[in-house]
Amino acid sequence: MWPDNKGVHINAHGGGMLSHGGVTYWFGEHKIAGEAGNVAHAGVHVYSSRNLYDWRDEGIALSVSDDPVSDIVDGCVIERPKVMYNATTRLFVMWFHLELAGKGYDAARCGVATSESPTGPYQFIGSSRLCAGIWPRNASDDDKLPGAKLARDFEGGQMSRDMTLFVDDDGSAYQLSASEDNQSLHIYRLSSDYLRPSDVYVRRLVGRYNEAPAVFKREGRYFLFSSGCTGWRPNPARIAVADSLLGEWTELGNPCIGTPEQVETTFESQSTYVLPVERKRDAFIFMADRWRPLDAIDGRYIWLPIRFVDGVPRIEWAGEWDLSVFS
Ligand code: DGJ
Repeated sequence: MWPDNKGVHINAHGGGMLSHGGVTYWFGEHKIAGEAGNVAHAGVHVYSSRNLYDWRDEGIALSVSDDPVSDIVDGCVIERPKVMYNATTRLFVMWFHLELAGKGYDAARCGVATSESPTGPYQFIGSSRLCAGIWPRNASDDDKLPGAKLARDFEGGQMSRDMTLFVDDDGSAYQLSASEDNQSLHIYRLSSDYLRPSDVYVRRLVGRYNEAPAVFKREGRYFLFSSGCTGWRPNPARIAVADSLLGEWTELGNPCIGTPEQVETTFESQSTYVLPVERKRDAFIFMADRWRPLDAIDGRYIWLPIRFVDGVPRIEWAGEWDLSVFS
C-alpha cells in the first residue's frame, strides 16, 4: 500500500509522470472497489510530490462527463493517461486510451484533454482513432491489400489501445500505441501543439502483440519496455532498443532478473512508465501495475530502479529501496 498525504492508498493506476517546475505529478486511472472499478466512474486522478516518496492528493484532473452524449461518460474506459507540457502553447496536454461506454475494447480510440495548470481541471478536446486516410511510412504493398488489418482501418483511422507518450530533447513529441488488434505498435510523431498526430507514423514490432509501452532515452538511444497481451494477468516483460523513435526497434529479450516466477510475471506486474529522476545522473525508475481486476481500487504499484548491464536495462526485485541507489 502506498498512502498519500491523507493516509489513503494512491489511486492512480496505469500511471504517467510529468516533472515540471521542481514538482513531479503522477496521473493515473482512478479506480473504485470491485469489478466495477475496471471502467471509469471518476476520471484521471493526479498527485504531486517534490521527493517521489510523499504524494499529495491533488484530486481529479479530468472528470468523466455528465453530458450523456460525451465520449467520456461514466462507464467508459479511460486507461494509461499521460501528460506533457507544451512550452509554446503553455498548455498541459493529456492523452489517454479511451473506450466508449458499453462497447468493450472495440472503439480503440485516443482521448486528448488540455489544461493551463498541471493539476487541471483538464478540458476534454475529443477522441478518435488515428491518422485516417494516411499510411504509415513503412507500409508495404501487402499491408495495403484489402484484408490486411492496416488497410481495414485506413479509412476510419488506426486503432489505438495501450499507449504512452514521449517528449524528446528537441521538444518533439510522440505517441506509441498498440494497434491493428494489438498485433503491432504504431509510433506517431505529434503536431507541434501536441494535440493531434502529424501525418508521420510507422508500424513496428509487427506480430509481437505488445502492450504496456513505456519509453525512455539514455545516451542517445531509445528503450522501450512492454508486455505481452494477456488481459489483466501478468506476463514476461520485454525490452527493445532503437537509435531513433521512428526507426527500427531491436528486441533484447526479458529485462527481469530473479526467480523463474518473477521473470515470467514481471514481478506480478505490467509496465506503465519509466520515470527519469531529476537531478540524478543516469537514474530511471521502472513503474508498473499489479492489477487487481476483482477489486480494482486495490491495485498496487511496483517501482524498481533500472540497472544497466552492458548498456541493456535490467530490473531486479527490491522489497525496499530508496533514491540513494542512484548515487
Ligand atoms: C492490459 C492493458 O495493459 C491494460 O491497460 C488493460 O487494457 C487491460 N489489458 C484490460 O484487460
